[in-house]
Amino acid sequence: MRSVNQIANREILDLIPYEPGKPIDDVARELGLNPLSIIKLASNENPLGPSPKAITAMREALEKLHLYPDGGGFHLREGIAQEFQLQRENIVLGNGSNEIIELLYHTFTRPGEHEVVTVRNSFAVYHLMAQLFGVKCIEVPDRDYTHDLEAMLAAITPKTRLLFVANPNNPTGTRVSNEALDRFVKALPDHVILALDEAYYEFLDNPPNSLQYVKEGRKVILMRTFSKIQGLAGIRIGYGLACGEISNLLQRARQPFNTNSIAQAGALAGLKDLDHQRKTKQITDLGRALFEDSFKKRGLSYVPSAANFVLVKVGNADQVFKALLQKGIIVRSMVSYKMPEWIRVSIGTNEQNIAFLQALEEILK
Ligand SMILES: Cc1ncc(COP(=O)(O)O)c(C=O)c1O
Repeated sequence: MRSVNQIANREILDLIPYEPGKPIDDVARELGLNPLSIIKLASNENPLGPSPKAITAMREALEKLHLYPDGGGFHLREGIAQEFQLQRENIVLGNGSNEIIELLYHTFTRPGEHEVVTVRNSFAVYHLMAQLFGVKCIEVPDRDYTHDLEAMLAAITPKTRLLFVANPNNPTGTRVSNEALDRFVKALPDHVILALDEAYYEFLDNPPNSLQYVKEGRKVILMRTFSKIQGLAGIRIGYGLACGEISNLLQRARQPFNTNSIAQAGALAGLKDLDHQRKTKQITDLGRALFEDSFKKRGLSYVPSAANFVLVKVGNADQVFKALLQKGIIVRSMVSYKMPEWIRVSIGTNEQNIAFLQALEEILK
């Protein structure tokens, strides 16, 4: 008799699943800690929580949960379109921006035939998805933890269909210059789609005018999320901005009700809550300066960040990660990213940041 594994797809059998930041409840259970005492700085979440306006809108949406959501997400897409002076047709909603990545593979790649290009030390989902779809993923070396856009261009072959550039990048927090991005976009051949992952776009000072690429009808999709600056990671909603041709194809590839009604309502209210976004950026800027200043004084190497997290070199990352866990602080060890001496720490409230720095100091002493 054949085992389940013998009849399963090779791609699934070989897949090493995505490793998310450790949930607070898991740590509490495993270490016998009070969940309320645990600080999670592991998934680049918003330390202020969701926008209060989003919470009100989501509570109101609860009353209508007996109805299926509007699969087309009319109101949210209309709201996003207004925000960016685009048309509703330019917007595709996803169950987190992660789903947009998956929709791109569905739409533009065939197993064994096509390739995608990304950079080493970038968001793991790009290559995990490639593996799942049976598509070759070329990871070019980064340059000082930043995307080497020229090397990415050089890696394009006739088989390439997608390029992934996270700007700012996760896990390094680095960005590419606006000029370099512009040159790169204009140099792309016409058989590839650029997936510009802007999950952390709102944290940038002097952000690129990437919307222009969409308005010019280029083969570029901007991927954005409500998980970060909006603080709605738990409800799973993100979106893609692209020319009508691209977004119409992605619409065909999605599940009929891929985003739920509570998420749509919360996202729309959060989008308009500029005050919450401004406060989030402010607290992030302050926390980043504190982290980078403290690492500098302590003589720890770190990668200057443009996002809401910082990569810092601590020696044995797994050991430091575990020692921090014992103190009730969850960060991310970069061992699975093949950076065994680095941890990534998300920027929290000032109190959380100080608690992390004190705990790290005690561990490294
Ligand atoms: C670069 C990048 N892209 C996409 C995502 C996915 O975000 P979500 O699916 O929550 O929208 C993340 C999450 O950490 C990320 O860091």
